Amino acid sequence: MPDEFTPDAEDGLRDRVTVTRREAIKLTALAGAAIATAHLGTLAAGSPRPAPAPSRTANASMPVAADMAPQRMAVALQINGKAHSMTLDTRTTLLDTLRESLGLTGTKKGCDHGQCGACTVLIDGRRANACLALAVMLDGTEITTIEGLSKGDQLHPMQQAFLTHDGFQCGYCTPGQICSSVGMLSEAAAGMPSHVTSDLSLKQVTLSDDEIRERMSGNLCRCSAYPNIVNAIREVSKATPGVQS
Ligand code: FES
Ligand code: FES
Repeated sequence: MPDEFTPDAEDGLRDRVTVTRREAIKLTALAGAAIATAHLGTLAAGSPRPAPAPSRTANASMPVAADMAPQRMAVALQINGKAHSMTLDTRTTLLDTLRESLGLTGTKKGCDHGQCGACTVLIDGRRANACLALAVMLDGTEITTIEGLSKGDQLHPMQQAFLTHDGFQCGYCTPGQICSSVGMLSEAAAGMPSHVTSDLSLKQVTLSDDEIRERMSGNLCRCSAYPNIVNAIREVSKATPGVQS
């Protein structure tokens, strides 16, 4: 290795590197040919092929472990004041139970992932996404859906306010919006703060439009009927004891 890196030295180095590369390529080619020949010889001699790598996907013929098999369970649900006893697959959501087993299709399925609020119902008076609740976990609770809010022909004040203020267009999100707003007013009346509540020490919540929007942010409306939804909720909030607007 020269002390100084002169153009001559560079040429010498390049020559050496070139030779080394050629040698390396030759050696690699020879080694590959030797391995291939050995493998062919092994196969010709009748040696068993190496076992294939195990598949990473589930084998359909693989027996299902007993604790993974579908389980059914008896459950007693109280829905809109009526008792329902049934036996359900333990994986059934409340949303599917309402819609598929009981024909209560007022509760809508939007995303089925807890992101749109279309399936909002009241469980023991608290709003909840029915698509995220397993029915068998609700044994003994009182569930209210949009069908249970009115008293016969008499609409719930929130239902009436949505009609009065034209708080919907296609109406798909509306049952969830109405159930959610009923539950939201109960939370506000109980003094529960929201993300935009500025003074957490106050016992009584002042339900500004910002508060309404924030508290209803889990209920999406693809028709963007939001201004009229806020108007409807504001009207009912004025008549709700414990809520200041
Ligand atoms: S369907 Fe339940 S949150 Fe969208
Ligand atoms: S009224 Fe159509 S999605 Fe809300």
